[in-house]
Amino acid sequence: MYTQLILLLPLLLITIQILLRITESLTSPLKNIPGPFWARFSNLWYFNRIRRGQFEHDNIKLHKKYGPIVRVAPNHYSISDTAAIKTVYGTGSKFPKSAWYDGWKHPAQWTVFADRDMKRHANTRKRFTSLYSMSSLVNYEPFVDHCAELFMTHLNEFSDNGATFNLGHWFQCYAFDVIGNITFGERFGFLDRGHDIDGTIAALQKVIMYSTLVGVFPEWHPRLFKPLSKLKWSGAGGRAYISKFVQDKISAHEQKAQTQTQDAEKNETQSQPQDFVDKLMLARQKEPEKVTDYHLFIMGQSNVTAGSDTTAISLSTIMWHLMHYPDVLQKLREELDEFTAHGRCSSPITFKESQEMPYFQAVMKEALRMHAATGLPMWRTVPDGGAEINGRFFPGGTVVGVNTWVAHYDETVFPDAGVFRPERWIEAEDQPERLKVMNQMYMPFGLGSRTCLGKHISILEMSKLIPQLVQEFDFTPLRKTWRTENFWFVKPVDFEVRVQRRAGVR
Ligand code: HEM
Repeated sequence: MYTQLILLLPLLLITIQILLRITESLTSPLKNIPGPFWARFSNLWYFNRIRRGQFEHDNIKLHKKYGPIVRVAPNHYSISDTAAIKTVYGTGSKFPKSAWYDGWKHPAQWTVFADRDMKRHANTRKRFTSLYSMSSLVNYEPFVDHCAELFMTHLNEFSDNGATFNLGHWFQCYAFDVIGNITFGERFGFLDRGHDIDGTIAALQKVIMYSTLVGVFPEWHPRLFKPLSKLKWSGAGGRAYISKFVQDKISAHEQKAQTQTQDAEKNETQSQPQDFVDKLMLARQKEPEKVTDYHLFIMGQSNVTAGSDTTAISLSTIMWHLMHYPDVLQKLREELDEFTAHGRCSSPITFKESQEMPYFQAVMKEALRMHAATGLPMWRTVPDGGAEINGRFFPGGTVVGVNTWVAHYDETVFPDAGVFRPERWIEAEDQPERLKVMNQMYMPFGLGSRTCLGKHISILEMSKLIPQLVQEFDFTPLRKTWRTENFWFVKPVDFEVRVQRRAGVR
């Protein structure tokens, strides 16, 4: 009798859960919002879709089928609407990040990217935003130049020996080394070896997959994290690895700085702060109660986790589109040649010079529209009191989000959205109203108070490398289409190419 009861208990619990879900779905004030049938009752539908790694395309199709608001999980609504973007993400918005972001941090810690506490987040951003500002880029430019030079050396070798190689992977090596150099004043060494060092790239990829998926069931994260951290193959293990890696780099950096200060004191000269951690250490020295060791750690970790895949993907998309649109490539080369002829494009190009090239700017902007680095809705929670979005009232606690890909492929704002046409940005300059709407829907770096902190750094990295690649090499892709995997970052996995130094180039 008891055995039968014990066996029946799980069944009873499952039945109660199902009945609860059905009741919730039938009584919800948002019950008539359309979406896939199973998404009404369980997060499993959404989990299963993102697990397949193509959700950016699924999301666009869902909006084509169901309209501007689509349910993708119970209480989760994907939105496609310019006005919604302003309400949800605009400056001064009171929509915090949703529990999905919890998967992106250690359960007992907080980080700038995943922080759901709006007040603490605002304080952190205020304190560190200057490290990422345009004026700080001047300090970082030599770090980037050094990596770009190494990258070009490898391309020359590939050109000489006719090798085929995965350009996406090499961009990640470049992005990793640049971010290491900028953050810790030291490259990781990816550009020397050309392959993953100590499994760092693999660990990061596991972190990303784990975080993306566990975030759909955030209540499981604290339970899964500890046991999974012990398993090397798991994403939770990857996070522990990256954390240790960053901590070690900071400790080594602190030791080095101490030795340099002692030397400087002996020589009675003051060493100049240059890289990111240098600047943070100086801030900690000035205001130890406001800038703590933990801040040093999370800012360093954010740079490593947020700054390498994103930049590598964006570099890949620019080059991919240039390879597949020869007219655009030709026009870009003409602009670069013209600027060079007039002494306005140095070798290597300076960041300032690249900013002054209208066609190059339009190429970068359009490539990031075509293939944004992130491809899932950026989930936010409707604040207490609810909010009206797209003419519909959403009660407080509802989770809503806009997927960058959905915004960028909105045909009403970007006609022929599937065509790579940098000219659309230049033409729109004569139509300010139109340009305003395009810019409102353009969000490769996110928006508002949570917009990407590293945006200028990544633009610096792209602006320094792409013109050199275009001027000095011809690339031939081995495929007409590429395969991508979307675990938050929409990463090309088989971007293989052949490269040849252009005639007349040294
Ligand atoms: C082309 C390259 C990059 C792209 C496309 C990109 C994209 C994004 C996006 C879309 C967000 C907002 C996510 C959200 O709201 O859920 C974001 C946030 C963030 N990014 Fe980037 N990113 C790039 C490079 C970088 C770099 C190089 C760094 C660091 C040096 C960085 C650091 C951050 C941080 C710290 C946040 C969190 C900001 C906050 O929540 O206040 N990113 N990024």
